[in-house]
Amino acid sequence: MSISKDNITDKVIDEYQFSGEREQVLVHGLIRHLHAYAREVGLTHSEWRAGLTFLTKAAQFTDEGRNEFSLLSDVMGLSSLVDLLASPPRATPGSVLGPFHVHDSLEQPNGVDLKGEQPGTPTVFEGVVRSADGEPLEALLDFWQNADNALYPKMDATQDYHNLRCKLRTGPDGRFRFRTLLPKPYGIPDDGPVGDLVRAAQRHCMRPAHFHVIVSADGYRPVTTEVFFAGDPYIDSDAVFGVRDALVTQVENVPDPAQALDAGMPTPFSRVRFDFQLVALSAPQA
Ligand code: BEZ
Ligand code: FE
Repeated sequence: MSISKDNITDKVIDEYQFSGEREQVLVHGLIRHLHAYAREVGLTHSEWRAGLTFLTKAAQFTDEGRNEFSLLSDVMGLSSLVDLLASPPRATPGSVLGPFHVHDSLEQPNGVDLKGEQPGTPTVFEGVVRSADGEPLEALLDFWQNADNALYPKMDATQDYHNLRCKLRTGPDGRFRFRTLLPKPYGIPDDGPVGDLVRAAQRHCMRPAHFHVIVSADGYRPVTTEVFFAGDPYIDSDAVFGVRDALVTQVENVPDPAQALDAGMPTPFSRVRFDFQLVALSAPQA
């Protein structure tokens, strides 16, 4: 069979036969959509070469500490789409993991003071982890955020490796409590080809302030998500499309010295309340 523009897609797909059913679906779908894209936009040689040059630059920017492909997925909304596809209806929705999670955070007691004496807005972050049926869950929260200069420890040699991050276990009542700082909006790494892409599209590189949390409990589907704050200037224009209505909460200002004393906080302090909901592993997928 000679190859023509009308039969090339089927011919290529025929040539890729995997033993696994899922691989067939993934690779055949990818070929079909790549070919459909080229047809739809009438892809020219120079545009195709520019695309390959972009990917080559992304590879050159990628190393152990920086993954430009992951960032590309984030700014194209693909990471968020995958998160949303994987979020069961009654669970707290997922949101982007981002590049600043570490696997070796230290476990700290419930109520931990993560802020110490560093500058920033002292903030209590508290809530309850529950099942979709409202039962409190003994859960593990893996938590990280940026400091008052908007940087994560990875980007800032002046911060301790463990600054403003930890793992924390709830009791059987599902309650958790961190004494921390209000995080700051910040810009995603923009010195590579992804930054060029975002600027060329007349977008900005900013993310609204957020806490990152991975919540897990035995027998339940873990959720990687973020908590955002109403009124943030970037709440409607997150560079990586991570905001969902259900993840936005209020920041309460607490000026009362008695409450501050009770909470082990300075006066005034801020309070953020947020409850997480997990669905059982046995529940149907989204
Ligand atoms: C972050 O929230 O830390 C982040 C997420 C995606 C890309 C860059 C940073
Ligand atoms: Fe972040």
